[in-house]
Amino acid sequence: MNLLKPILFSAVQPSGTLTIGNYIGSILHWSSMQTTHHCIYSIADLHALTVFKNISSLQQSKLDTLCFYLSAGINPKQSIIFLQSQVHQHCQLNWILNCYTYFGELKRMVQFKQKSKIYAKNINSGLFNYPILMSSDILLYQSNVVLIGKDQKQHLELARNIAHRFNFLHGKFFNIPDSYIPNKYSCKIMALLNPTIKMSKTDVNHNNVIFLLDNKKSVFNKINKSVTDSENKIFYNSDTKPGISNLLNIYASLKRQNIHEVEKIFKKTSYKDFKYLLACMISNKLSVLQEKFHYFRNNLPYLKNILDYGAYQAKKIAQKTIENIYNLLGL
Ligand code: TRP
Repeated sequence: MNLLKPILFSAVQPSGTLTIGNYIGSILHWSSMQTTHHCIYSIADLHALTVFKNISSLQQSKLDTLCFYLSAGINPKQSIIFLQSQVHQHCQLNWILNCYTYFGELKRMVQFKQKSKIYAKNINSGLFNYPILMSSDILLYQSNVVLIGKDQKQHLELARNIAHRFNFLHGKFFNIPDSYIPNKYSCKIMALLNPTIKMSKTDVNHNNVIFLLDNKKSVFNKINKSVTDSENKIFYNSDTKPGISNLLNIYASLKRQNIHEVEKIFKKTSYKDFKYLLACMISNKLSVLQEKFHYFRNNLPYLKNILDYGAYQAKKIAQKTIENIYNLLGL
């Protein structure tokens, strides 16, 4: 590894089919980071266990997620792509960091509170400890930069606090990672029928979500049904017009245009026409992505090679961190 480039880490949980929210908020930006950073992209399958118990869909989901990474332009020769569960050092560091994290800190995590409501019958300890495993993912590779959606900012703050605490007690060991949130608008795509909550791949109401594998018909249906307001004037204001602002966000992010330029283009357009144009644009983008996706998805031996090689590369770095930390702690 050429150490002149900063190390960037990111991951997605394979807990269902990815949505345009995941795409816009993270993997769309991943390929362009490859020239300036050493990129390490993980598929966080251990995290997925916190909410996910269906083994065969987890297996599908892992490979689907990998194929979306590849379709979005992540190059396995340039970046390390690996499955979290194939690098056991994540669990080793996880235990150690458990001992440097306070119960009170975890109790304050907004995502834990939200998920405890959604999964009220399964508030397992994994759900509670989730941010420590995430900190382990990041700190294991001495990451400089972590690419996250806005909703993960609190988790990254925790990782930074754990790293600081550890360094304070034992001398400088961990790098303190910075967050990188790609774009202030696009980082959080909201649910189509309820634009005050995040678009989530585990939402039970599929009309809230555009999945990356949705066909043209369902994209049109879902965009048509999406909630707006009665003003019929297009401009961005996420407080007073959350619905239309969310749609503008989706348009601007997928087209990689500035949201204010997009606002100007559609200033005089009706909601109905805007929705039509937005649905056309989304389905065109998805069909290009899906073509690549199916190409990779049909090549299982290739996928397996990528994961084996990725795990081999990740382990080399991770093992060094574990050896150093074991020495430091007298283990
Ligand atoms: N929790 C992240 C999410 O749901 C996924 C994730 C797991 C992650 N480990 C990470 C993201 C480490 C960044 C860094 O989006």
